[in-house]
Amino acid sequence: CIRDSPETAPPTTNDGGAAVEYALPATDGIDDPYFPGLGNGGYDVEHYLIDLRADPAGNTIDGTTTIEAVATGDHSSFTLDLRGLEVATVTVDGAAVDYTRIGEELRVEAPLVAGESVTVAVAYGGTPEPVDDLGDGWQTGWIRNAEGTFVASEPGGARTWFPANDHPSDKATFTFRITAPAGMTAVANGELTDTIASESGDIYVWEMADPMATYLATVVVAPLERVEHPPAAGVVLRDYLPPSYRGEAPDSFQKTGAMIEYFDDLFGPYPFDQYGHVIVSGFPAALETQTMTVFGDAWFGSPFAEFVVAHELGHQWFGNHVSPTTWKDIWLNEGFATYAELLWVEHLYGPVAMQAEAASRYDDLRSTSHALAGDPQPLRLFGISVYQRGALTLHALRDGVGDEVFFEILRTWVSRFGGRDGSTDDFIALAEELSGADLGDLFESWLFTPELPPLPSP
Ligand code: ARG
Ligand code: ZN
Repeated sequence: CIRDSPETAPPTTNDGGAAVEYALPATDGIDDPYFPGLGNGGYDVEHYLIDLRADPAGNTIDGTTTIEAVATGDHSSFTLDLRGLEVATVTVDGAAVDYTRIGEELRVEAPLVAGESVTVAVAYGGTPEPVDDLGDGWQTGWIRNAEGTFVASEPGGARTWFPANDHPSDKATFTFRITAPAGMTAVANGELTDTIASESGDIYVWEMADPMATYLATVVVAPLERVEHPPAAGVVLRDYLPPSYRGEAPDSFQKTGAMIEYFDDLFGPYPFDQYGHVIVSGFPAALETQTMTVFGDAWFGSPFAEFVVAHELGHQWFGNHVSPTTWKDIWLNEGFATYAELLWVEHLYGPVAMQAEAASRYDDLRSTSHALAGDPQPLRLFGISVYQRGALTLHALRDGVGDEVFFEILRTWVSRFGGRDGSTDDFIALAEELSGADLGDLFESWLFTPELPPLPSP
C-alpha cells in the first residue's frame, strides 16, 4: 500500500479529453524521511517477473522485468527506480512507449488511470553498479564475489538490478526466471518451481508467493548445492552451500528447525512456506532475504554464528512479514530481530542467562555514544543503538506490561500488520491498546532520548 500524493491537476488543455490528459506526472518518491529518492507515487506494484540471464564471469545481466501494478491516481506519466544499466525498450500493456532516464529514475511516458491495472515491461542489461546508500562505504545491490554473484540490497540496492518501486511500503509477489551458466545454480526467494535446460544455461524458476519488499529480493548465482533438513512446524527447510561443504550444513544451521518451532510459539506461525540460508563469500554480514537468508561465510567459526541464525530467522516475522513503513522505523526490524537472539538464549539457558546477555549489551551501549534508536538517521541505520537499544526497548516493554501481555503484543503485531507495513506509532498504539497502559514515557525514554534509561529486568 503506498500513499498517493494529493495532487490536483490544473486545467492545462481545453480539448475536453479524458481525465488523464489533465493529470500531472506521478511523484518520483514516496517521501521517505531518510531516502526521499526511493519509491514512487501513483501506483501500487502487485507482481514482479524478473527474467534475467546472469553472467557472473563478465559481471553482466540482461533480460526483462515485467511489473504488474494498479494505479492509485490519474497521472500523465510515472517513474520506476533504476540505477545504471542500459534500457533497450519499455512497453506498457504490450505497446512500446517513450521513456526518460533522470538520475536513478526511469520515467515512463504513459498515463495511469486510477484503479486500473497496468503491465510495464522493461528490457535492459549491463553491469550492475552497487550503491553506497548510507554514505558509510557499505555497498548494496548486485555484487560480484569470488564464486559468482549475490544480491544484498538493504536498503536501496534493488534498483541496481531491476526497475522497481524500491520502498518497503510497496510490497509485491515475485517470480524469478534466472539463467545461470554451466556449473552454477541460481538461487532466489521462495520455492524453486522449475529448472529448464536452455542453450545459454539452466533456467531456475523461483516463486515468492507472499508479498515481499524489494530490498529482500535476492539472486545468488554460484556453484551451490541444495541440502534439505527435516521440515519444522510445516516449513520446508533447505540451505544452499558451496561444494566445498560437501553437503554438510554448518552446526549453527542445524538448529534452524528448533528455532522455528520455538519462535512459532512466541510470535505466531512462521509467515512463509520455506526457510533456509545461502552461503556467500565476500559479505561480512548476513541479510534476512525473505525465506532465503544470505549468510556471509565469515561467520563460521565465530561464537556469534548461532545468534546470527536466530536474528535473521526473527526478521522473517519482524521486518519481512511486517515491513517498516519508512526507513526511520528500522528499529522495528533490527531491535526485534536482536530481541529474538535474546529469546533464543532464554530458551536454551534460562532467564538468568538471558538477563546476563541483556546486561552485557546494555554495557556496550553505556560505553558508546550512540544515535537515537527511533531516529538514527541514515548513517546509523544499522548502528548499535537500532539493534541493541531497540532490543532493550522490547525488554523494557516486557518489564512494564508482564510476559503475557508482552507476547500478546508481539503476536498481534504480526497478525495485524503481517503482509503489509507498520510504523513506530502503530506499534506504540498497539502496545497501549493491549496493555491498557500509557506507555508514552517508556517509548520516549528508550527510543527518542539520548540518555540511557536503567537496565530493565523483567
Ligand atoms: N539487516 C541486516 C541484518 O541485521 C543488516 C544489513 C546491513 N546493511 C547495511 N547497509 N549496513 O541482518
Ligand atoms: Zn538484522
